Amino acid sequence: MTIKTALITGATGQDGALLAEFLLKLNYRIIAPTRLNPDLSNLKTLGIHSHKDLQFVTYENWHDFDITIKEFQPHEIYHLAAMSHVGQSHENPEMVFNVNTHWTINLLQAIKVHSPLSKFFFASSCEIYSSSIDRPVVEIDEKQPSNPYGISKLSAHLMVEYYRKVKGLFACNGILFNHESHLRAPSFVSKKICREVARIVKHGGAPLSLGNIEAKKDWGYAPDFIKAFHTMLQLSKPDDFILSTGVLHSVKDMVNCAFAALDYDISWQGSGLECKALNVNKDVVVAIDKRFFRPLDNRFLIGNNSKAQQHLNFSNSTSFSEWVKKMTLNELNFS
Ligand code: GDD
Repeated sequence: MTIKTALITGATGQDGALLAEFLLKLNYRIIAPTRLNPDLSNLKTLGIHSHKDLQFVTYENWHDFDITIKEFQPHEIYHLAAMSHVGQSHENPEMVFNVNTHWTINLLQAIKVHSPLSKFFFASSCEIYSSSIDRPVVEIDEKQPSNPYGISKLSAHLMVEYYRKVKGLFACNGILFNHESHLRAPSFVSKKICREVARIVKHGGAPLSLGNIEAKKDWGYAPDFIKAFHTMLQLSKPDDFILSTGVLHSVKDMVNCAFAALDYDISWQGSGLECKALNVNKDVVVAIDKRFFRPLDNRFLIGNNSKAQQHLNFSNSTSFSEWVKKMTLNELNFS
C-alpha cells in the first residue's frame, strides 16, 4: 500500500529516475508528468518504467500542471525538469529562462492556488554564486551568475524563497553542485569521458576530444544527493541547502581516473590547445578541441555542505575515483 504521493517533474532524467526509484522503495506513489512519447531509457535501466505505483501523465504545456496538481494533491512535489546545459544556455537564453524560470513560477502559483499543503523541492544550482568568492560557498553567500543558465536558476530560486516567505508555502531550494551517475546524458563531461574511455580501451579508434580540461568542479555522486532532496521535505521547517562534496577535481583528473579504472596507462604532453594524452604505443587517446570551450568557464567553485550535514544527515558515500570507476566499468558493457 502506498503511503504518500509525490509528483516529479523530469522523472525521466538522471535525478528524476534515481529519485523515483528511491521513493518507490519507500512505498510512494509517483506521478510523472511527461511529454508525449517520453524517453524512458533511464527508468528502464533502473527496471521501474512499468512499476505499478509509477503513473505517467501526459502534458502539452505548463498550464496542464494546474490540473494535475489539483487532481492529485501530491504530498511532495520535486521540480527537477530543466534546461540543464550551462554551455548551450549561451546560445538560447530566452528558451532557458522560459523553461527554468517561468515554469517554476507557474508551478509555485498552481500549488498556492490548488494544493497549498504540498511540499515543494526545487533543483537550484551552484551556478547562481559569484565567482569572486575564494572559499567554499555557504547558502547565504553573494549570488552573481555568469551564464544564462545560472541567471534563470537564480530567478527561480528567488521565487521559491518568495513563495516560502511571503505566500507561506513549504518550499525548499536544493543548491546542487555537479552530481553524476551512469544515468547522466552523454552531453555532460562525466558520461562523455567514461563512455569514450571504455570505447578506446576496448576498441581503439579516434581520440576522446575535450574542451577545457583544466576546468575544476566540486563533483559528487547523484544517489547521495537524491536522498537529501527527500530529507529536505521531511524537515519541520522549509529551508535552502547546499549539496556538494567540498572537494575540487579537474576534468583532467577525471580522464586519469577513468583510464586508471581500466588499468590503461596514458601520459600527457604539451599544453593549451596542443595538450594531448598518449597511450604506451604513442597513439593519441585524448585531444583538445576548441569547439568544446565555453565563455567564462574559469570558476573554481566549492560548496560548504555543513548545513546539509547537520540538518539532513547528508554525506558523500562514494569518492570521486570510486564513482568514475563505477561509471567507466558500466560503460564497458555497452561499448
Ligand atoms: N560537456 C562538456 N563536454 N564539458 C566539458 C568538455 C566537453 O567536451 N570539456 C571540458 N568540459 C568542462 C566544461 O567546460 C565544464 O567546466 C565541466 O567540464 C563540466 O561540464 P558539464 O559536465 O557539462 O557540467 P556543467 O558544470 O556545465 O553543468 C552541470 O552542473 C551544474 C552544477 O554545477 C549541470 O548538471 C548543470 O545543470 C548544473 O547546474
